Amino acid sequence: MARHSLQHDGVELSYYETGSGPPLVLLHGFPLDHTMWRAQIEALSGVCHVIAPDLRGFGQSTLAAGDAEQGVDMRRYAVDVMAVLDDLGVSEPAILCGFSMGGYVLWQAVREFPDRVRAIVLCDTKATADSDEMRAARLSGAEEVLLSGAGPMAESMLPKLLAPATLANRPDVVDEVDAMIRRTAPEAIAAAGRGMARRHDVRASLPGIRVPALIVVGAEDAISPPEEMREIAGALPKAEFVEVPAAGHLSPVENPTAVSDALRRFVAGLGEEPAR
Ligand code: MLT
Repeated sequence: MARHSLQHDGVELSYYETGSGPPLVLLHGFPLDHTMWRAQIEALSGVCHVIAPDLRGFGQSTLAAGDAEQGVDMRRYAVDVMAVLDDLGVSEPAILCGFSMGGYVLWQAVREFPDRVRAIVLCDTKATADSDEMRAARLSGAEEVLLSGAGPMAESMLPKLLAPATLANRPDVVDEVDAMIRRTAPEAIAAAGRGMARRHDVRASLPGIRVPALIVVGAEDAISPPEEMREIAGALPKAEFVEVPAAGHLSPVENPTAVSDALRRFVAGLGEEPAR
């Protein structure tokens, strides 16, 4: 796996790539980084050109001046992702796979850059905007993380990200996710929290998204539960739905084999239809 970086719009964007085949872009969630896709990067590299960026501010990517204070809209992350594809010279439409916040970024990429999207994978994500209560919590969370660091955020988010059985019985997974959150820059968390608070409900646009779609959700996802993701699948014209057992919100980490298998099957099925 090779790491690359590029300068774009005032930031350094870091991304990893490996494998060959149709381009597959893995978009991580909040407040995580590309390493949440470790298992899928390895499992898909035999059949895809896998590209795993760190969104601006996360992992090894940087923020621009003012991003933490003003927030980063989901559209700006999507523009950054297109800059990564440009940097690699990828001009054919890519398979975009977004986990949770990565899914919010994916909706914007599909809307703004439809010609660059061959198929989509929505993993444990939402199509709705925040409730007023959630928005207020995000904005106060952004203030707090800048004062107290990422530690309290790790403590409050772990029980929501992971299924109860994962929390109780799999200290290796708990420690990995805890460390991922704690090493995230507080400014990146504030920037993304403020950006997510401003995002719009995209449900009305779903029937117009005509590319093949795979919807993946952990059976015990408490943030974007299976019922909600079934509605997304029902509204998309060409969607498959996969519920992943023994997983909460973080299904790619909690049940990596099931998520990788679902992705592999979906990619193989695309081979049977011509790229647009
Ligand atoms: C994520 O996993 O990316 C977050 O749970 C998204 C969110 O806070 O809405």
